[in-house]
Amino acid sequence: MPYRLLFVCLGNICRSPSAENIMNHLIQQAKLSDKIVCDSAGTSNYHIGAAPDRRMTAAAAKRGIQLPGIARQFQVSDFEEFDLILAMDKANYRDILSLDTKGKYKNKVKLMCDFASHRQEKEVPDPYYGGSQGFDNVIDLLLDACDGLLQYVVRRVGIARQRL
Ligand code: 4NP
Repeated sequence: MPYRLLFVCLGNICRSPSAENIMNHLIQQAKLSDKIVCDSAGTSNYHIGAAPDRRMTAAAAKRGIQLPGIARQFQVSDFEEFDLILAMDKANYRDILSLDTKGKYKNKVKLMCDFASHRQEKEVPDPYYGGSQGFDNVIDLLLDACDGLLQYVVRRVGIARQRL
């Protein structure tokens, strides 16, 4: 059974599809596609069914990352479906945990920026209402955070395997 990661932002058209596809890129490079799988979702219903934002797709393409995907909303069943849920900002984090009414899944939900090692930001900023620089910034921040996240997951998957 692969380790399952879910990336979550507000709309699921900018930050979380970028995180999902950057992570998939790193997972493929590390030849771990059979061990780690990724998905993404939004806390809102604003863009359900939409493709990633064109500005985000353009910024990702500059770094050689394609952004396939169709937006969906985060749902309570995702708490069981995924091993680790990565919130892009603190509002996303709170909105996700507000659906965890029994406080059962708190340790599965983490802030994406906690895995960054070069960048100091605590949140992946929402680029939606800004210029193209904001989208480039999201990609570069996520490249750093995904790198750290991959190391973390490899360690966790490794530990799980030793215990079996
Ligand atoms: P995302 O960006 O949460 O990174 O997908 C946004 C997309 C849409 C909106 C806000 C942020 N919106 O307000 O529609």
